[in-house]
Amino acid sequence: MDINNNKMLQAVTWDDEQQAVILLDQRALPDAERYIICSSVEQAANAIENMTVRGAPAIGIAAAYGIALAAVNAERLEIEISANQDYKLKIINQAFDRLAKTRPTAVNLFTALERMKACLERSKNNLKLSNILLEEAKLIHSEDIANNKRMGELGAELLPDDAVILTHCNAGAIATGGHGTALGVLRSARDAGKKIKVYADETRPLFQGARLTAWELARDNFDVTLITDSMAAALMKSKKIDAVIVGADRIAKNGDTANKIGTYGLSVIAKAHGVPFYIAAPFTTLDFKAETGADIPIEERSESEMRILINNQHVPDSVKVWNPAFDVTPHENITAIITERGVFFPPFKF
Ligand code: MRU
Repeated sequence: MDINNNKMLQAVTWDDEQQAVILLDQRALPDAERYIICSSVEQAANAIENMTVRGAPAIGIAAAYGIALAAVNAERLEIEISANQDYKLKIINQAFDRLAKTRPTAVNLFTALERMKACLERSKNNLKLSNILLEEAKLIHSEDIANNKRMGELGAELLPDDAVILTHCNAGAIATGGHGTALGVLRSARDAGKKIKVYADETRPLFQGARLTAWELARDNFDVTLITDSMAAALMKSKKIDAVIVGADRIAKNGDTANKIGTYGLSVIAKAHGVPFYIAAPFTTLDFKAETGADIPIEERSESEMRILINNQHVPDSVKVWNPAFDVTPHENITAIITERGVFFPPFKF
């Protein structure tokens, strides 16, 4: 498979011609680079649930476009069945309810929906709601890319000139509007002339590290080496690792951070080996309503994700399965949180 390609990866785009949300199907990677067209809110919601699109900021952006899609479709009804403004608003509000039920942990989903709701509130008497909501969704998208680039510049300063980094899950361009959070820091560090070598955890059970991060970095000509999650301790003991950098799904007021299951364990291992542990996330990942990590809801996903490995069942049905998708890294284990508004060190005050 020849994957080197300089084309900027876009997990989510809006197609003006088709009036639809286009999603890179991340379930098919790295075997196939295929795209899914969502022309209804239900299709967009399903795509978030089934992880066609995943990664906290990308989920938020997809949901924002999902609201714009609701307005487009409501305006079609206006033409077809003379739907009035109240009826259109009802359809759009149903879209908010549906999209909010897709995934519980990534707070960017709710931040984006709240922003779209505020926009709707301001413009509810405007007859061309789709234009206004689409502009807002596009703004959320472009701001995310700009934030990642700024975060990248700030995070790059923390890394030595010749850096060996361990990362977990995928916090790359395809988990965001573009550029990436954790992987964005690595991209910016390389752009600043630093030499970057990356170890990627495979990230069970859905292998975002193996299928997505290793693919995304190799495609971008990074020196990347894959390890299984259980190899991280041995890696830190036997090789020079300068830092662990991961993304986040939700950060509480005290700095406790929810991210892909396995991140907490990695933070414990990093602390034990004196390796700096960095979180890179935009301000939209901060949840000021969560005092600590205990206030963060942790998604539990389908047992089948663990029972069936690449379409082959390898666990007997009689065995119970526990499949939390995220864990919380206590703030004591975090060296710094890199955001577009600055790098925060303990004690965390955002
Ligand atoms: O279940 P996923 O693949 O959506 O989980 C993604 C992660 O945990 C990422 O690290 C996080 O969303 C940050 S993405 C910039």
